[in-house]
Amino acid sequence: MQFAQRLEKIPPYLFAEINQKRDELIAQGVDIINLGVGDPDKPTFAHILQAMHQSLDDNATHNYPPYQGMDEFRQTVGKWMEYRFGVMGLDPNTEIISSIGSKESIHNTFLAFVEPGDYSLIPDPGYPVYRTSTIFAGGQPYTMPLEAENNFLPDINAIPEEVAQKAKLLWINYPNNPTGAVANLDFFAELVSFCRHYQILLCHDHAYSEIAYDGYKPPSVLQVPGAKDIAIEFYSLSKSYNMAGWRVGFVVGNSTGIKGLSQVKTNVDSGVFKAIQKAAIAAFFTSEEQLQSLVSIYQHRRDVIVQGLQSLGWPIQAPQGSLYVWVRVPKAYTSQEFTNLLLEQCGIIVPPGNGYGIRGEGFFRIALTIPEARMEEAIQRMHDAGIRFETDDSSNKFKVISNKS
Ligand SMILES: Cc1ncc(COP(=O)(O)O)c(C=O)c1O
Repeated sequence: MQFAQRLEKIPPYLFAEINQKRDELIAQGVDIINLGVGDPDKPTFAHILQAMHQSLDDNATHNYPPYQGMDEFRQTVGKWMEYRFGVMGLDPNTEIISSIGSKESIHNTFLAFVEPGDYSLIPDPGYPVYRTSTIFAGGQPYTMPLEAENNFLPDINAIPEEVAQKAKLLWINYPNNPTGAVANLDFFAELVSFCRHYQILLCHDHAYSEIAYDGYKPPSVLQVPGAKDIAIEFYSLSKSYNMAGWRVGFVVGNSTGIKGLSQVKTNVDSGVFKAIQKAAIAAFFTSEEQLQSLVSIYQHRRDVIVQGLQSLGWPIQAPQGSLYVWVRVPKAYTSQEFTNLLLEQCGIIVPPGNGYGIRGEGFFRIALTIPEARMEEAIQRMHDAGIRFETDDSSNKFKVISNKS
């Protein structure tokens, strides 16, 4: 038997490899600190669990759910968009659809809009699914570099005219995985007019919409006047409400975008279990205090990591959102070499930045999803292994003082 050629073009999923390495080391008795995966470690909020328990006992939730989501689910999403962002008047029938987590809807968007030869404009570094789903659809990924000097925002003026003409989708994601960067409405407005000019569907992956620090509230692209003409936005309950395993999210915005998604969905997968939709409805009523109590846990962890790395000489600023700290590797190392060093000498798992794209080379990513005490231990292990950055004043570059021979 042979795999289809398209599988040969797809690299192994980053975390499949990392998880395999983790399991091997654990089997050898190594005490691994896994700073790898953005999988929330706290339990789902109690009021959501309660709604789920009740809904499970209701036989009416047991049959096939509607593909687009129950009326009550879509109406509540519409109200949540009003309450959270002031985005008024989304039509629950044509401008809102439920999804089995956002990974499903992201992939299906490529199937709905990208044809062989078309470009998708995707961030580099970025969530790996944008690239692989482009390839699955037969399209060509065109990467938009996210550089630290530009606050990890893409420069759309650098996109060649012929690429823009042949592009079907433009993907952004703020708060950003993996860089932790955030974006403001002026930047979104610039993208809306670019996408309107070239008739490109603007896709904003807002998986971390509620995970932001220091009082910052990430905006919706749909707050830009007229954005609904050209943009859709992907939401997930995975991170905001500790519901990663439940597989529920939604997409809002441009009705053609939603229609395309719906057409793929009705053919290749199914709706979200109704009891989970009921639980998600309860999630939309999570109080600001509850959300803030979750966010402040991540914020403390972020501070432990940032201050710990600073104490080891890293010139690093605290990210304003997402579950990640994006960290430069010392100059003497590639991303892979340095993450291997962390694993072998400290028992710390982190993904190398090049797993998120070529421009991720020179970085690694730390996820804020383990308890503070383990993070402190990770910093201590790095300290004990002699790993640190030092700024060399004469060249303004970093040199590593570690036990690399
Ligand atoms: C940027 C981004 N988008 C989408 C997802 C998918 O999340 P889910 O499918 O759980 O909604 C993730 C998960 O890590 C992510 O980081």
